[in-house]
Amino acid sequence: MKKILVTGAAGFIGSNFVRRVLDLRPDWEILVVDALTYAGNLENLSGLKEKHGARYRFERADIRKTEDVEKVLRDEKFDGVFHFAAESHVDRSILGPLTFVETNVLGTVNLLEAVRKYQDIAGTRFLHISTDEVYGALGKDGFFTETTPLNPSSPYSASKASSDMFVLAYHRTYRLDTVITRCCNNYGPLQFPEKLIPFMIKRALYGEPLPVYGDGKNVRDWIHVDDHNDGTLLAFEKGKPGEVYNLGSRCEKNNIEIVTLIIEKLSALMREREDFRTPEIAFVKDRPGHDFRYAIDPAKAESELGFSPAVSFEDGMERTVRWYLENRGWWEKIISGEYMEFVKKLYGEKG
Ligand code: NAD
Ligand code: TYD
Repeated sequence: MKKILVTGAAGFIGSNFVRRVLDLRPDWEILVVDALTYAGNLENLSGLKEKHGARYRFERADIRKTEDVEKVLRDEKFDGVFHFAAESHVDRSILGPLTFVETNVLGTVNLLEAVRKYQDIAGTRFLHISTDEVYGALGKDGFFTETTPLNPSSPYSASKASSDMFVLAYHRTYRLDTVITRCCNNYGPLQFPEKLIPFMIKRALYGEPLPVYGDGKNVRDWIHVDDHNDGTLLAFEKGKPGEVYNLGSRCEKNNIEIVTLIIEKLSALMREREDFRTPEIAFVKDRPGHDFRYAIDPAKAESELGFSPAVSFEDGMERTVRWYLENRGWWEKIISGEYMEFVKKLYGEKG
């Protein structure tokens, strides 16, 4: 039996990860810790206790608090820590950078410290989930490789780059067994409806214009969340200590292409609904410091880990748009604030 700790798994990528790993690795047990911020939703983990029994546990813990982190890592030994917990939204980081420093930088160092203090340095692998945004922006040509210098633009990416540096420092200084993955933009079910794809689906269903920043020509490399999670698992199982692996899917799209595809898919799926009107794109003020293009060269992950994304963009987007249509209750509860009321009730006013 392997025992792993997963932080931030009430969020989008982590919850998909935990569901997948409990199915794919029947001899693993998982402790999830999450602070349940606005982005963490216990509903994303529903049914896991019933399905997997003692192999799945949840504890509320805030990685910004040393005492929370120590309590989790003091008394149990883990074979691995998968660190997903983060403040993850660029636009929020522009409005208020400090929480990003507290969670992404201080929170990560708190975790690293507790692993160093209480875990077996050689026996606990620390898998740090990072992002291609740490490399900054590309022009029309070229790709990020693992040796591209870090050059972050937003407070979000600056905080992630800082946390990457601490992870590397803990490997070099204390010989912690660390692996960093830097993935491109994820899409799929359970993504918080502030990110481009679910946000546009929600607006379209409410008959609102779709706000595209600037001229909409900014490019992102898009990957289905299951492919990212398979890459994370491969990095944990096959990655070399102290290494960084870029996870990309060679699937570059500009924002207009994405939004147009969403309009097409929704129009097809909703064609019999008289209350659905084809939404319009509205070009709005650009995001400050908006990175023009992200694109990853995943050659190292392909050759060293055997990484190979399986979900085509066409199929993945079809399934994703359908998921948000079929799970309207999930995102409507979140945006109506009902979910935060529930957390308050469950955990008291501090929630
Ligand atoms: P998310 O915002 O959906 O989820 C983040 C989770 O972390 C939430 O459950 C939240 O409650 C939890 N959390 C936040 N602050 C915490 C704290 N102080 N203590 C404990 N838990 C806390 O984010 P996501 O999109 O699932 O991203 C997960 C990870 O993947 C992040 O580290 C992010 O940087 C990285 N990443 C995301 C993408 C993407 O496209 N979304 C791409 C590459 C890398
Ligand atoms: P986002 O999902 O916030 O991810 P990131 O900024 O981490 O790449 O945004 C993806 C792209 O979509 C990015 O270029 C910004 C753009 N965007 C819009 O044009 N309008 C929007 O309302 C949002 C949320 C994003």
